[in-house]
This record gives sequence, C-alpha cells and structure tokens, in this order.
Amino acid sequence: MPSPRKPHSLSNDPAHLDQQYVWHPFTQMRDWLKEEPIVIRAGRGAVLTDHRGRRYLDANASIWTNLHGHNHPQINRAIEGQLKRISHSSALGLANEPAAQLAEQLVKRVSLARSPQPSRPTTTPLAPRRRQPVLKKVFFSDDGSTAMEAALKLHHQFIHRTRPQTTARYLSLENSYHGDTVGAMSLSHSPLFHKPFQTIRFSVDRVMAPYCYRCPFNRAQPSRGDARHYRQCQWECVDQIEQTVLRAKTRKKPFTAFIIEPLIQGAAGMIAHPRGYLARAEAILRRHGIQIIADEVLTGFGRTGSLIAAHQEGVQPDFLALAKGLTGGYLPMAATLTTQKVFDSFLGPYDSFRTFFHGHSFTGNQLGSAAALANLRILGTKQSLARRTKLEAWFEQALEPLWRLPLVGDIRRVGLVAGIELVQDRPTRSPFPLKNQVGIRVCQAMARRGVLTRSIGNVITILLIYTMTRKQVNRITQTLADAIEEVSSRPPGAEDS
Ligand SMILES: Cc1ncc(COP(=O)(O)O)c(C=O)c1O
Repeated sequence: MPSPRKPHSLSNDPAHLDQQYVWHPFTQMRDWLKEEPIVIRAGRGAVLTDHRGRRYLDANASIWTNLHGHNHPQINRAIEGQLKRISHSSALGLANEPAAQLAEQLVKRVSLARSPQPSRPTTTPLAPRRRQPVLKKVFFSDDGSTAMEAALKLHHQFIHRTRPQTTARYLSLENSYHGDTVGAMSLSHSPLFHKPFQTIRFSVDRVMAPYCYRCPFNRAQPSRGDARHYRQCQWECVDQIEQTVLRAKTRKKPFTAFIIEPLIQGAAGMIAHPRGYLARAEAILRRHGIQIIADEVLTGFGRTGSLIAAHQEGVQPDFLALAKGLTGGYLPMAATLTTQKVFDSFLGPYDSFRTFFHGHSFTGNQLGSAAALANLRILGTKQSLARRTKLEAWFEQALEPLWRLPLVGDIRRVGLVAGIELVQDRPTRSPFPLKNQVGIRVCQAMARRGVLTRSIGNVITILLIYTMTRKQVNRITQTLADAIEEVSSRPPGAEDS
C-alpha cells in the first residue's frame, strides 16, 4: 500500500517541477497545488509505478485509453521497429506504409457484415432492416475531439454539397460529451464542462438520454440492481426522439445528423443505455433520412464487448469516430470513418474547391499507425477474446457486493467499463451536492490504498485493462468498497481538520 504523500522539498523533484510549471486538464489547480502529485515513472501490465517507487493499479485504464496493459511487448516492438525507419512524415501530399495498412485494416474490421450480430430486441416491433452504410474511407487525426470535429465537418460539407438548400442540423443526447474543440463541444450537452463556453458553441438541439436510473418516465421504485433491468417504462425516451424529429420537420428545420455514443455515455457519468435503445432510435432516424455519427472514442475496440459497440444492435453509423484505444492507448491518434458516398461528394475539379480543407500536422503518424496495427492484431487473437469474456464475468461478480453499501444507488456495467453512482439516500435517489466532492474523495481514498481511478460527479468509473487478473479485478472493487465506507464515515471537510 502506498505511504501517505508528503509535500516535496527538492527543487528538481518532478513533483515540484510539475506544480511549478504544468497546468493539468479538468483539474482545479488550487486543489492540485495543495498536495504532492503522483508522478508516474513506469508501467507494466495494469500496474503503474511512481517516482517514489509506489505501485498502483490503473483502474481507469489511463483515462480510458489503455487496452492490453502498459509496456506490452508486441506494441513496444511495433513502435520500436517503426522508430528505426521513421517517426513521422506529412500526410499532406505524401502517403506512408503503416497508415495505409491501418486504414485497410480498419475498413475491413469495422464492416458490419463481419461483426457477429447479437439478436435484435423483440419487445416492440421495429421497422424492417434497411441497408446499412458501408464504411470505406478513413480520415486520420489526433484524438477523440479531432475525430469528432472531422466527423462534424465532413457531414456539414456533405450536406452542403448534396442538398444545397438544406442546412446541416444536429441532434444529440442530454449530458453528452464529444470533446473539447469548439465543434465537438457544440455537439455536447455537458453543462458542467462547457458552461463557460456557451457563447462560442453553435446551437445544437438535444433530446433526453436513456438514463434509466434517473428517468422521469421510469415508474419503478429504486432497487438493488441495474435500473436498466428493473425499469418500468414504455420506451418514452425513443418516442422523444421521434417527437423532436417531427417538430423540427414541422418548423422546416429538419435534422440531418444524430450524434450518439452507442451503448454507454462515458463522460456523462457512465450512462448505460437499455438494450434495444440504439436499434429503436436508428429505425426512426433512418426513416427520416438522418445520418448517424457514432462517437466510439470510448466504446470502441472491445471496451463494451465488441470491436464496435453499435454493432451489438446491428447498427452501422454513417460516420464513426475512433480514438483512445486505437493505438492500445500508447500514442495520440484518431480516425473518422465514412462511406464512399460521402467521399465521392468531395470529388471534383480543383477549382470546384470541394476539397476537405481540414487536417493536422500529425495526421496518419507512422508510430501511431504501427501501434494501432499491433493493437488490432492482439485484439483479434483467440486469447485476447477469451480473456475479455472471462474478465467480463469476473467483473460482474466483483461488482455484486457493492450493492450492500447504502451509498451505492446504481451500478451500470457494459463490457469492461462500469459506473458506480453514489447517492445520499437510496430510496429517493437524492444525489450528493457536487460541492461535497464525494466522488473525488472516494477516488482519493482509493489512491491512498493503491488503486487509481477518477469520478464524474458522484459516479466512480472503472475501466479494466484487458490483461488484468481476477485478483486485480477483485482488488479494485474491494478497494472501492473500503473507500466508500471511509468517506461515508467522514463528513465533508473532516479530513482537512
Ligand atoms: C465519447 C468521447 N468522445 C470524445 C472524447 C474526446 O477525446 P479526447 O480527450 O481524446 O479529445 C472523449 C474523451 O473522453 C470521449 O469520452
């Protein structure tokens, strides 16, 4: 167990240098400066080691990026091999081998036809299946935000070219988070993150998220189980999509694209969608000719149990944004995939200026592409698949005892990601005020016990690394239970005295 962290003294100490010079993302720096930060020096598998030699379990997969563990020999070898040839050359006017190979692999592997399709939901009749888009082209960028920014701009220009009388209009889910660049931020509805930027966001409509635990249409009393399973409703969340779409049509301002994180909205607080939601939503969207932009920045690459989460509901989007796990979590790289039809709409003589005038200096980076190719090879192995299946079962069992804790209101797991929502009062589902920092305090208590993860408000997030052992999974949930008990026995502010 790591010993308590003490204020540093040496001026060349990396903790000191960090506090002197670095501004951290999504961090209240006043709090950051109060205590010595954890400085990560090394990682192997699911274990991170800091500069003082203390070891931690990486229970948020290094902000949802890492898939097969740190220092994975195959990914290391792929990067080292590429490093000896070249690290980076421009994609503006030049091609390169690993990026071309990666694009081919992505197109082949995200084909819906190749994906095993679980049976479609049967409780409500669905429209007959329509022909699904085929993703044929890959636009590379650097991270989740830029992958979404590219999807947005590609769609925008596609609509402009193919339906010049129509303005591109977007619909996305309540609380959604699609990144921090201005376009991606506009597609998001995350009051906590984006409120200060309200005036620079462009206007995007929203529709309720299928957040069963806090759904106004769910008539079920709170129970010790995932609210998606005991809910009592009539799919009003899906009706709301149809009503919103119809209202926009009546106003002669129809939507052209719907943006969604399939199966689970990560940064919204791990809002896991009930099975069948996406397929039902898709039937409505297709009927009204609305394109689907799937943000699989978190959900892609096996995180939710399949390579592409949307495929679990037989849905292929028109635009697919991938990042985080693309390189196994080793290097910043992202991809936006789309159809031949979209691609073709950008073709024309030079002076028609149909070109997609968008790009980044590191587009198609060779090191990232080499890491991504290695990641795809590992993901496709029988061992990795078998391990992920086992891991899901272990995870489910390990989460079960948490229901006994009075502060646990809902536990939402999809594949190898879960959100544990803490509440003040289970029968009324009343949340803790954010100023109490309950989620943050639980994560701090976990860190003191050697397990690192992060909270989103009152939701503790856990993302497993695909090579974790059963013991490690159990240790994460046991540590979480201990941390929750510690925090529940100490009122806010008690640790400061
Ligand atoms: C669903 C989703 N989309 C987009 C992003 C933005 O990705 P990035 O932080 O790599 O820019 C994130 C980041 O957490 C995300 O979870």
